[in-house]
Amino acid sequence: MDKDDLILPKDFPELKNDTFLRAAWGEETQHVPVWCMRQAGRYLPEFRETRAATDFFRTCRSPELCCELTLQPLRRFPFDAAIIFSDILVVPQAMGMEVQMVPGKGPTFPEPLKDPDDLQRLRSKVDVAAELGYVFKAITLTRHKIEGKVPLIGFSGAPWTLMTYMIEGGGSTTQSKAKRWLYCHPEASHRLLKQLTDVIVEYLLAQVAAGAQALQVFESHAGCLGPREFREFALPYLRDIARRVKDKTKDLGLDNVPMIVFAKDGHYALEDLAESHYEVVGLDWTIDPRSARERTGGKISLQGNMDPCALYAPKEQLDSIVGQMLDGFGTRGYIANLGHGLYPDMDPEHVGAFVDAVHSHSRRLLRTK
Ligand code: CP3
Repeated sequence: MDKDDLILPKDFPELKNDTFLRAAWGEETQHVPVWCMRQAGRYLPEFRETRAATDFFRTCRSPELCCELTLQPLRRFPFDAAIIFSDILVVPQAMGMEVQMVPGKGPTFPEPLKDPDDLQRLRSKVDVAAELGYVFKAITLTRHKIEGKVPLIGFSGAPWTLMTYMIEGGGSTTQSKAKRWLYCHPEASHRLLKQLTDVIVEYLLAQVAAGAQALQVFESHAGCLGPREFREFALPYLRDIARRVKDKTKDLGLDNVPMIVFAKDGHYALEDLAESHYEVVGLDWTIDPRSARERTGGKISLQGNMDPCALYAPKEQLDSIVGQMLDGFGTRGYIANLGHGLYPDMDPEHVGAFVDAVHSHSRRLLRTK
């Protein structure tokens, strides 16, 4: 028997710290849970060492390396959740596009989509189990190796964000090539967004079946849209993803998996996001915690939103920033995080100080309640 066959998605170790899951469902907790986007990343010397020998997407295809990279930050800091090491761009790859990670430049598509005729280049039917099986194996393996310490989060890019990469061919400040499609080819845009949605739904469901205990959907490029375009080209697909994943997980008896939507710079859509079938809305640092609570009417849990650059501050200042953030969000239905991912030049010690500050401030607030 192949060694991979021995690790089955069952008999997982019992979860010892469910604080993150309880907060996602808006239940009472002993402290505010905390994790960081990009917690498995280049700010950790051990990450750089593990990644050095292997190409980025080859790393993503190795369940053992993904598992190791996911666990590394947990060995250093008492995070309340782990996010599987992978990338949002594995979905365009599964649809037939080539993507390379070019050091110093970032993700690069040698042949991006130029006009609607190029949609023919995409696989019309994606065999998610075959194309992305390596992600599911990584999740199952990690769920075992994490030994129930904290829950494991699975994730996907959202349709609009993936569409921008597929058309721009890499990073872009304006996303103008992708936005051009919205104005010149709205019908083809919807076709592509729908095609992405169908793959993402299957992809997220398979992550849950493999052992993911929560899901986050990254709409990282919400900020280049306005409210009207967001309502037409992003929100319907985000809603559809949550609704379809929930319907199916219910059928599978796995409906205890909360979903988080993170639409970076999408503050204009906060009310809509709060009613899009996700349990948690992730926030970037451009929103004031109190106003986010007011605008979402206490109906859902919130996640975020410290400016990652606050980690450059001296520890005493960092501590007071965390205190203010907790005062603003309150301790119920709240998951502390940064407003975006950690940067490679950040000091791991300050990441540890951030985690400790969230735990100690929130314990104090909860004791005096
Ligand atoms: O710890 C974690 O957060 C889990 C792993 C994770 C990665 N990418 C690993 C990664 C997650 C959740 C992602 C999501 C992702 N990937 C997003 C959405 C979140 C966001 O940042 O808005 C996006 C837009 C991508 C696409 C992508 N992948 C970019 C823009 C980059 C950076 C390129 C660069 O050179 O800085 C990547 C590469 C990447 N993905 C790294 C990591 C740790 C760094 C490169 C490396 O490890 O060599």
